This record gives sequence, structure tokens and C-alpha cells, in this order.
Amino acid sequence: MLKPSISPSLMCADIFSLREIIRDFEKNSIEYLHIDVMDGEFVPNFCLGTDYCRRMKAQTDIPLDIHLMVINPLNKIEAFGFGAGDIVSVHYESQAKDEILPCLKKIRAGGAKAFLAINPDKPVEVLREYFDEIDGVLLMTVFPGFAGQKMVEGSLERITALRKMLDESGHADISIEVDGNVNYEKAPLMRKAGADIFVVGTSSILGPGGLTENIQKMRNLLG
Ligand code: DX5
Ligand code: ZN
Repeated sequence: MLKPSISPSLMCADIFSLREIIRDFEKNSIEYLHIDVMDGEFVPNFCLGTDYCRRMKAQTDIPLDIHLMVINPLNKIEAFGFGAGDIVSVHYESQAKDEILPCLKKIRAGGAKAFLAINPDKPVEVLREYFDEIDGVLLMTVFPGFAGQKMVEGSLERITALRKMLDESGHADISIEVDGNVNYEKAPLMRKAGADIFVVGTSSILGPGGLTENIQKMRNLLG
């Protein structure tokens, strides 16, 4: 079983306290920084962008976890300035099918880990043909676009089904990252179902309470 990692969602972090928050993440050995990029087309919201990713990369050694919620990402990927150790996710739904593979290859060619993101209403079975080309799946547990939503019913079963598919096809090393409403109650259940990277936002560590205490609480729950 892959060890659990925490990827706080920076769209949920107060921009006026960002420097302090990043330092706290460093002190607490946070594994990734989840950056939601939204183009107002693939999802009905705008959020973070290329400059934000580049500035963040220059300011911290924590690897970035760039979640691209943009239409036709293929020719936009390089602009985010990612590198070795970072994660870049593109959505299965955001592009023509024949552009998915070139996208994943481009991410890997840039030294990053290629993840394929999938919305809650898409059968996980569609991912199977990409298993040799990906390092992880970003399994959405809410419909992307906004923080503060409730987990879509059936999400835990989807994690279980995907983990089984991966393990049985010889891809036990492929990560499952969960994104959306990862709270203190659901995170351990998601972990049990087979997730290993946890995007945490308003529902947990960037919600009420002290940051360090919240991170500690989440780590204890994830085991
Ligand atoms: C969507 C985002 C959100 C969110 C996570 O891609 O990543 O899911 O910020 O935090 P919650 O759901 O806890 O507000
Ligand atoms: Zn996200």
C-alpha cells in the first residue's frame, strides 16, 4: 500500500497569509501543494494560473500538484513551469480522446508525474487503457469548480473499484488522489478504500482550527 500524502488546496488558503501558511506546511513536511487552475470554460469558475504556479515554485521546495481544469490543455501545459517531482493532472473529459496520450507524455517529458483526473460521473473503467502512461489518478469526489461542496455519493465505492483494477492489472504503484470534501470523517474511509494522496481544503486542515494541529490530526487519522 502506498504511503499517505497530504496536498492542501491553495485556493482555500488566505492569500494575505500565504507566506506564513507555506512556511507552516514546510515545517509540517507537507508532501504537495494542490493548485487548482480553472479557465471558466471547463468549469464555471476562474482560479489560479501560470504566474501563481511559477511564483510558488520559486518560493518553496514542496512539490506542486497542479490540477488543470482547462479545455484542451495540450498546448498550454508548458506555461505552468513544472519540473521533477511535481504532479500535473489533466482531465479525461477536457479534451479530444486522441490528445490525452500526448498530454500525459508531455508531462512526463517535463520530469513531472502524469495524473489523469476524472469527474464523479465518469466510469473509472475508461482509465484502464492509460495505466501504462500515468503515475496516478485524480479521482474527483465532488464536481470540480468550487471548494466547500459535499462528497458525491458512491465515491468510496469508486476508489475501491479503481484500486482493485490497478492492483489486479499489475499497477499497484499508481496513486489514487482524492479531491473534494476530504474531511476528518471521510479521509480514513477513503484511505481504507485505497486512496493515498489527499487534497485537503475547507473541509479539514484549511477550515477552522490551528493549521499545525489540523495537519497533525489528519496525519493521525490517515495512519
Ligand atoms: C477542486 C478543489 C476543491 C477544494 C478542496 O478541484 O481542489 O475540491 O479546494 O477542498 P474542500 O472540498 O474541502 O473545500
Ligand atoms: Zn483540485
